Amino acid sequence: MNLLEVIKAAEKKGVAVGHFNISNLEQLKAISHAAAKLDVPVVIGTSEGERDYLGVHHAVDLIASYNKEHAKGGYRLFLNADHTHSLASVKIAAEAGYDAILFDGGKEALEENIKLTREAVRIAKGINPEILVEGELGYIGSSSEVRREIPKGVAINPEDLTKPEEATRFVEETGVDMLAPAVGNIHGMFANAPEPRLDIGRIREIKRAVKIPLVLHGGSGNTDEDFLAAIKAGISLIHISTELRVAWRQGLEESLRDNPEEVAPYKLMPEDLKVMERVVEEKLRLFNKTHSL
Ligand code: G3H
Ligand code: ZN
Repeated sequence: MNLLEVIKAAEKKGVAVGHFNISNLEQLKAISHAAAKLDVPVVIGTSEGERDYLGVHHAVDLIASYNKEHAKGGYRLFLNADHTHSLASVKIAAEAGYDAILFDGGKEALEENIKLTREAVRIAKGINPEILVEGELGYIGSSSEVRREIPKGVAINPEDLTKPEEATRFVEETGVDMLAPAVGNIHGMFANAPEPRLDIGRIREIKRAVKIPLVLHGGSGNTDEDFLAAIKAGISLIHISTELRVAWRQGLEESLRDNPEEVAPYKLMPEDLKVMERVVEEKLRLFNKTHSL
């Protein structure tokens, strides 16, 4: 199955596919182990910053080699060029062989966002007609970090969230395959406070209006209850990054503390991998929990 088929199958079952960002091999290993253990497909995301560090060709080759080595049953890794802001980056990712691209015009006014996203679809599909292009409508903040306050300009009040009629127009005029709306979700997570609740009613209205798969960004910090309600309302793909970054750092600090003399990475990293794997497994179990629709 290609990524669109996997997402549609998830939608049918009333579950969501997990999407996790990586910028190093350990994150990829942890995600892959958890997905293999649960035998589910998963999307690996690299934002522009993450792929600058990792290298687009390296990312594509790594995913291909993991699939070659481990793919069986339900396990399969897909690669998404997450939060792509320039058309030049769209071209690079499509040519490199990514399965999907998120063109992120979420900070732009509607007209400009439509214009740029339509162009992104044209470029990406011209290179690979099978590639999935996701558009972003509404601003949910830009980085996956631990925060103390809501970032400026983020849509949080009901009047600023993605409107179903704008979503319909955006999807029709751009030709995107998937849509990432602003529904109370925020990139990053708060250090000492809960995340704002998701607007489940708005997700339902947008889904009814656009029909195509909906993607929930900014998943770190949201409650299990909100995730399950969001999936039931029409979310098919959920992005998690900050929680995995936090786990990476905690696991690494613990391992360095427990092994003060150790200098071999392959002896230090397994402890870090376990901490990250726990986070990914917990999310994948939740997102893949079938519930009656
Ligand atoms: O695209 C990546 C994400 O939307 C992750 O958001 O850092 O809040 O989990 P997060
Ligand atoms: Zn995102």
